[in-house]
Amino acid sequence: MRSNFRLIAIGAIVVSLVGGILIGRFSGGLGGGGALAEIAADRGLTVEQATGALKAFTAPGEWDPYILVSSGGHSGQLHLVGVPSMRLLKTIPVFTPESWSGYGQGADWSEGILAEGSTDKQAAELAWGDTHHPALSETEGAYDGRFVYINDRANGRLGMVDLRDFKVKQILDLPNMQTSHGGVFATPNTEYVHISSMTPMPQTDDGYAPLEDYAEDYRGISTWVAIDPETGRADLDDSFQIELPPYTQDLADAGKLASDGWAFINSYNSEMAVGGNMEGGQPIEVGASQRDFDYMHIINWKKAAEVAAQAGKTEMRNGVRVISLDTAIEEGLLYFAPEPRSPHGVDVDPTGNYITVGGKLDPHVTIYDIELIEKAIAEENFDGTDEYGVPILKFDAVVAGSVEVGLGPLHTQYDGRGHGYVSLFLDSAIAEFSLGPKAGIPEAEAFQLVDKVQVNYNVGHLATTEGDTVAADGQYLVALNKWSVDRFPVIGTLKPQNFQLIDLTDETMSVLADMPIGFGEPHYVQIIKAERLVNAIDTYEPGTDPLTFARSSVATAAGEERVEREGDTLHVYMTTVRSHFTPDIIRARAGDHVVIHLTNIETLADATHGFAIPGYNIQASLDPGEVVTVEFHATKTGSFAFYCTEFCSALHLEMQGWLLIEP
Ligand code: CUA
Repeated sequence: MRSNFRLIAIGAIVVSLVGGILIGRFSGGLGGGGALAEIAADRGLTVEQATGALKAFTAPGEWDPYILVSSGGHSGQLHLVGVPSMRLLKTIPVFTPESWSGYGQGADWSEGILAEGSTDKQAAELAWGDTHHPALSETEGAYDGRFVYINDRANGRLGMVDLRDFKVKQILDLPNMQTSHGGVFATPNTEYVHISSMTPMPQTDDGYAPLEDYAEDYRGISTWVAIDPETGRADLDDSFQIELPPYTQDLADAGKLASDGWAFINSYNSEMAVGGNMEGGQPIEVGASQRDFDYMHIINWKKAAEVAAQAGKTEMRNGVRVISLDTAIEEGLLYFAPEPRSPHGVDVDPTGNYITVGGKLDPHVTIYDIELIEKAIAEENFDGTDEYGVPILKFDAVVAGSVEVGLGPLHTQYDGRGHGYVSLFLDSAIAEFSLGPKAGIPEAEAFQLVDKVQVNYNVGHLATTEGDTVAADGQYLVALNKWSVDRFPVIGTLKPQNFQLIDLTDETMSVLADMPIGFGEPHYVQIIKAERLVNAIDTYEPGTDPLTFARSSVATAAGEERVEREGDTLHVYMTTVRSHFTPDIIRARAGDHVVIHLTNIETLADATHGFAIPGYNIQASLDPGEVVTVEFHATKTGSFAFYCTEFCSALHLEMQGWLLIEP
């Protein structure tokens, strides 16, 4: 446990201790150990803090060995952070317009993606999302650095970001489900990306059913989104859904190696409480916490894909094939295992043998064994069925062990050395525990609490380096703390979340650094080795359409700039290069439909230009080689000074022009 060193007086002892450590570490090289110790003492750093600073430090100009991909919560975005420096690298907009990158601010590619992301399933054109669980694409169970998928918790959607240019390429609005929580996870070769509903919804034509008919008409949905292996895009035609009972399906994970072909979804509210605290009923949180057990859903997704391909086994519902709950039971696609009280996270270990569940209202983690699960299914070792007929495996037959870890266990990650790390929301701590022999832990040391470290405060998710893949390497852990309370200066009433970096390489865990997150509420992160991001590009090929990576049909080379009028439509073929737009005067008439095709003809990395038109809500970003089209109706006459929004050169301020809209 970490004690509060801040209260301990610092002085000569610390100087000598730090000096001893630093001189020891750097002896022969720097010759400055004594000076470093003095700096540490001057800054009031304890030995632990100074050591932590050195472990997390990434020198100016050096690159971090890991990139953390974070959801942005209700900011609707993704964020990239370097690990261990915990430096914010950039924000990637997905569901929410963002004006740095010109996303949803008039540029055609982004407007198109946002528009496709709001089908008539939604009541309004959506301008936000609630990103929860990023899933990096995988090959053979390891991150392959190609794509990242992210769910919209609020509206039941899936976004796809291409890790060549780190821009979103697609938003898929998923039929038959509203809120989403289960996943996103990718299957070990990204054949599918899984996303399941959170709150069950009526499966009726008009999307409504009385709450009195909840058990009958409402259903959970597990969606298997087929992924094109070349483009990473989701294809609804090849995707399928499986109906689930109207319990609240929570987090989910794919099996790997020993459990490849299986998937696991937690559920709570098997009580099917619907609230009604002003109608004589109980609040939902009371109604949903009555039973001692809920159900881990065990899905044979490989078999389900085969069943979905057979004639007559599915029905088309709003453009996607759906396997009914009855068919899922008949075909042996769905089983339940009891799981202690109101579980939240379900996480498969790097060997694929163990599945750890944290029950929010139970101080234990429960560890299931896939071999035992498969045996119980084969032997039909059931404890009856639930009221929908789903077979329930005998609890004692499928559990390998359980460990008392503390209060409020939520999510588990792994280090690849046979240990799990579980976040304890109520304890504000991370507990390390051992798995069993199938993860390389001797029988006598299996399923025990190993270590515990305090975090600040109320930790939700956590992530270890490559921790949910077959390649978990156990270097760092990042705790995603929901509350920061007193960790940062008082900067108003809405407080940042707090990412904390924890070292996993020593005997005991230690907190190395805090990182305030002052946007949205990040829910989950994945941490990928930076060296896996081999597809990342620096600049586009000249004239590239960012949506397709192909040459744009409206790409314009230097010397080909022109203005063409077709009736009321004005097409402007414009280039940008330091430090001018060509043409720099656009003459339009009131009522014209103005279409401006912009090509950034720069080839140098980082030579990005912007294109902003005052008053028309237009701001585009043009990275080197990129082609973007903006279009608008010239509804307001006037002289508009368009300009470049990126400080691109010494004459950046001169990079401007006129849009004249004549009466
Ligand atoms: Cu181009 Cu500033």
